Amino acid sequence: MRIRKVRTDEWRRWREVRLRMLRDDATFFSTRYEDVVREPDEVWQTWVSEADEGVAKTLFVAEGNEGQWLGVVGGFVRVDPSEVHLVSMWVDPEARGLGVARALIRAVGDWASERGATTVLLFVQEANGPARALYDRAGFVATGDKAPIGTGRVGFKLLLKANVETLVS
Ligand SMILES: CC(C)(COP(=O)(O)OP(=O)(O)OC[C@H]1O[C@@H](n2cnc3c(N)ncnc32)[C@H](O)[C@@H]1OP(=O)(O)O)[C@@H](O)C(=O)NCCC(=O)NCCS
Repeated sequence: MRIRKVRTDEWRRWREVRLRMLRDDATFFSTRYEDVVREPDEVWQTWVSEADEGVAKTLFVAEGNEGQWLGVVGGFVRVDPSEVHLVSMWVDPEARGLGVARALIRAVGDWASERGATTVLLFVQEANGPARALYDRAGFVATGDKAPIGTGRVGFKLLLKANVETLVS
């Protein structure tokens, strides 16, 4: 397995995996498949090309030996440039439990560190046990902020944060 950036020309593949996570693991994401599936190609192309540039956004893929995408993660710099927000964390069910997500978190930590950021933040749903265990093990702690998941759904999402040094060490 290797972790690498998603390239601009791979925007269709990124769209495919993003839609797959929102469809198959809908309960763990506040973004809804029905909204995202309608977005025009330009929106996907712009996101991936900006992530490829790597200035304010990033997308990483964990790629298997045959080129299969085992997992993905994204990140973007928040209004405060010392903060990076981690998003779109997803690992193919067949590759779970092998340390893929842990490696993807480290990649976002490295990228945040290169950008001079000091903190990585993310939202996780209160009821998402596996993801909460993952982030806890990686060194994230609760900020105390929480928000409703929204759009007619029951439950809350928690804001977690970690120091960049904790993630890259
Ligand atoms: C959550 C998710 C990303 C974890 O991916 P993964 O590659 O299986 O995680 P890793 O193998 O890197 O696990 C790292 C640590 O997380 C914890 N963990 C991961 N999955 C777990 C589970 N199902 N139960 C308990 N702990 C779990 C473990 O502590 C593990 O470390 P350890 O094996 O050394 O104890 C994956 O289950 C997933 O894609 N879930 C659906 C989408 C999702 O919830 N995304 C997150 C949205 S915030």
